[in-house]
Amino acid sequence: MEISEDSGLEKSRVALLGALFLMAWLFLQPARAENTGESGNNRMTVKFKSNCASCHGTDGAGTPLGKSMNAPDLRSAEVQKHSDAELAEIIANGKKDMPSFKKSLTEDQIRGLVQYVRELAKNKAPEEK
Ligand code: HEC
Repeated sequence: MEISEDSGLEKSRVALLGALFLMAWLFLQPARAENTGESGNNRMTVKFKSNCASCHGTDGAGTPLGKSMNAPDLRSAEVQKHSDAELAEIIANGKKDMPSFKKSLTEDQIRGLVQYVRELAKNKAPEEK
Protein backbone atom coordinates (compact mmCIF):
# COMPACT_ATOMS: atom_id res chain seq x y z
CA MET A 1 0.00 0.00 0.00
CA GLU A 2 2.62 2.48 1.06
CA ILE A 3 4.88 1.51 -1.80
CA SER A 4 2.28 2.09 -4.53
CA GLU A 5 1.40 5.46 -3.02
CA ASP A 6 5.07 6.41 -3.15
CA SER A 7 5.50 5.46 -6.77
CA GLY A 8 2.34 7.40 -7.62
CA LEU A 9 3.86 10.43 -5.97
CA GLU A 10 7.08 9.82 -7.87
CA LYS A 11 5.19 9.73 -11.17
CA SER A 12 3.40 13.01 -10.54
CA ARG A 13 6.69 14.56 -9.55
CA VAL A 14 8.21 13.49 -12.85
CA ALA A 15 5.17 14.82 -14.68
CA LEU A 16 5.41 18.13 -12.84
CA LEU A 17 9.10 18.43 -13.63
CA GLY A 18 8.41 17.67 -17.28
CA ALA A 19 5.72 20.35 -17.40
CA LEU A 20 8.09 22.86 -15.80
CA PHE A 21 10.79 22.11 -18.35
CA LEU A 22 8.32 22.47 -21.19
CA MET A 23 7.12 25.80 -19.83
CA ALA A 24 10.68 27.06 -19.39
CA TRP A 25 11.51 25.96 -22.93
CA LEU A 26 8.44 27.66 -24.41
CA PHE A 27 9.20 30.77 -22.39
CA LEU A 28 12.71 31.00 -23.80
CA GLN A 29 11.74 30.67 -27.46
CA PRO A 30 10.80 34.30 -28.23
CA ALA A 31 13.81 35.62 -26.33
CA ARG A 32 16.07 33.44 -28.45
CA ALA A 33 14.44 34.56 -31.69
CA GLU A 34 14.92 38.19 -30.67
CA ASN A 35 18.65 37.84 -30.25
CA THR A 36 19.39 36.27 -33.61
CA GLY A 37 20.45 38.29 -36.62
CA GLU A 38 17.87 39.41 -39.17
CA SER A 39 14.62 39.13 -37.26
CA GLY A 40 16.13 40.91 -34.25
CA ASN A 41 17.40 43.71 -36.42
CA ASN A 42 14.07 44.13 -38.20
CA ARG A 43 12.39 44.40 -34.86
CA MET A 44 14.81 47.18 -33.92
CA THR A 45 13.99 48.95 -37.19
CA VAL A 46 10.35 48.90 -36.10
CA LYS A 47 11.26 50.16 -32.61
CA PHE A 48 13.37 52.93 -34.07
CA LYS A 49 10.69 53.99 -36.56
CA SER A 50 7.94 54.05 -33.98
CA ASN A 51 9.91 55.65 -31.10
CA CYS A 52 12.76 57.67 -32.52
CA ALA A 53 12.23 58.51 -36.20
CA SER A 54 9.77 61.33 -35.50
CA CYS A 55 12.76 63.39 -34.30
CA HIS A 56 15.77 61.57 -35.68
CA GLY A 57 14.45 60.45 -39.08
CA THR A 58 14.63 56.84 -40.31
CA ASP A 59 18.29 57.34 -41.27
CA GLY A 60 19.28 59.18 -38.08
CA ALA A 61 19.90 62.52 -39.82
CA GLY A 62 17.11 64.27 -37.93
CA THR A 63 13.69 65.59 -39.01
CA PRO A 64 12.84 69.30 -39.05
CA LEU A 65 11.10 68.69 -35.71
CA GLY A 66 14.21 67.03 -34.25
CA LYS A 67 16.50 69.71 -35.64
CA SER A 68 14.31 72.43 -34.14
CA MET A 69 15.13 70.83 -30.76
CA ASN A 70 18.86 70.58 -31.59
CA ALA A 71 18.84 66.82 -32.10
CA PRO A 72 22.24 65.89 -33.56
CA ASP A 73 22.75 63.62 -36.58
CA LEU A 74 22.94 60.20 -34.90
CA ARG A 75 25.61 59.17 -37.42
CA SER A 76 27.91 62.08 -36.51
CA ALA A 77 31.20 61.57 -34.71
CA GLU A 78 29.85 63.69 -31.89
CA VAL A 79 27.20 61.06 -31.14
CA GLN A 80 29.23 57.99 -32.10
CA LYS A 81 32.08 58.92 -29.74
CA HIS A 82 29.86 57.98 -26.77
CA SER A 83 30.27 54.49 -25.34
CA ASP A 84 27.41 51.97 -25.65
CA ALA A 85 26.70 52.47 -21.96
CA GLU A 86 26.48 56.25 -22.37
CA LEU A 87 24.12 55.97 -25.34
CA ALA A 88 21.95 53.48 -23.45
CA GLU A 89 21.88 55.89 -20.52
CA ILE A 90 20.78 58.79 -22.75
CA ILE A 91 18.02 56.70 -24.38
CA ALA A 92 16.82 55.44 -20.99
CA ASN A 93 16.85 58.78 -19.18
CA GLY A 94 16.54 61.30 -21.99
CA LYS A 95 18.60 64.45 -22.43
CA LYS A 96 17.28 68.03 -22.54
CA ASP A 97 14.46 67.92 -25.15
CA MET A 98 14.86 64.20 -25.79
CA PRO A 99 12.26 62.20 -23.85
CA SER A 100 13.12 59.31 -21.52
CA PHE A 101 12.35 55.80 -22.79
CA LYS A 102 12.98 53.66 -19.74
CA LYS A 103 9.25 53.30 -19.10
CA SER A 104 8.30 52.30 -22.64
CA LEU A 105 11.32 50.18 -23.64
CA THR A 106 13.07 47.28 -21.91
CA GLU A 107 16.81 47.30 -21.22
CA ASP A 108 17.25 44.77 -24.02
CA GLN A 109 15.38 46.95 -26.47
CA ILE A 110 17.47 49.98 -25.47
CA ARG A 111 20.65 47.94 -25.95
CA GLY A 112 19.33 46.87 -29.36
CA LEU A 113 18.68 50.50 -30.27
CA VAL A 114 22.25 51.44 -29.32
CA GLN A 115 23.44 48.81 -31.82
CA TYR A 116 20.94 50.18 -34.32
CA VAL A 117 22.42 53.68 -33.93
CA ARG A 118 25.86 52.16 -34.63
CA GLU A 119 24.48 50.48 -37.75
CA LEU A 120 23.06 53.79 -39.00
CA ALA A 121 26.54 55.31 -38.81
CA LYS A 122 28.06 52.38 -40.73
CA ASN A 123 25.43 52.71 -43.46
CA LYS A 124 26.14 56.39 -44.00
CA ALA A 125 27.83 56.90 -47.35
CA PRO A 126 31.16 58.73 -46.88
CA GLU A 127 30.32 61.42 -49.51
CA GLU A 128 27.28 62.45 -47.47
CA LYS A 129 29.54 63.84 -44.75
C1 HEC B 1 10.87 64.23 -29.21
C2 HEC B 1 12.02 64.08 -30.07
C3 HEC B 1 12.96 62.93 -29.84
C4 HEC B 1 12.67 61.59 -29.85
C5 HEC B 1 11.31 60.93 -30.05
C6 HEC B 1 13.92 60.89 -29.67
N1 HEC B 1 14.95 61.79 -29.55
FE1 HEC B 1 16.91 61.34 -29.38
N2 HEC B 1 17.35 63.31 -29.21
C7 HEC B 1 16.43 64.35 -29.28
C8 HEC B 1 17.10 65.60 -29.00
C9 HEC B 1 16.44 66.97 -28.98
C10 HEC B 1 18.46 65.29 -28.77
C11 HEC B 1 19.58 66.25 -28.40
C12 HEC B 1 19.68 66.32 -26.89
C13 HEC B 1 20.67 67.37 -26.50
O1 HEC B 1 20.26 68.51 -26.40
O2 HEC B 1 21.84 67.02 -26.28
C14 HEC B 1 18.58 63.84 -28.94
C15 HEC B 1 19.77 63.14 -28.81
C16 HEC B 1 19.91 61.79 -29.04
C17 HEC B 1 21.17 61.08 -29.06
C18 HEC B 1 22.55 61.69 -28.93
C19 HEC B 1 22.87 62.06 -27.54
C20 HEC B 1 24.22 62.68 -27.44
O3 HEC B 1 24.46 63.33 -26.42
O4 HEC B 1 25.05 62.54 -28.34
C21 HEC B 1 20.88 59.77 -29.28
C22 HEC B 1 21.87 58.61 -29.38
C23 HEC B 1 19.44 59.65 -29.40
N3 HEC B 1 18.90 60.90 -29.26
C24 HEC B 1 18.81 58.48 -29.64
C25 HEC B 1 17.41 58.35 -29.67
C26 HEC B 1 16.73 57.10 -29.76
C27 HEC B 1 17.38 55.74 -29.89
C28 HEC B 1 15.40 57.39 -29.73
C29 HEC B 1 14.24 56.40 -29.74
C30 HEC B 1 14.20 55.44 -28.66
C31 HEC B 1 15.26 58.83 -29.64
N4 HEC B 1 16.50 59.38 -29.59
C32 HEC B 1 14.05 59.52 -29.65
C33 HEC B 1 15.09 64.23 -29.56
C34 HEC B 1 14.39 63.03 -29.63
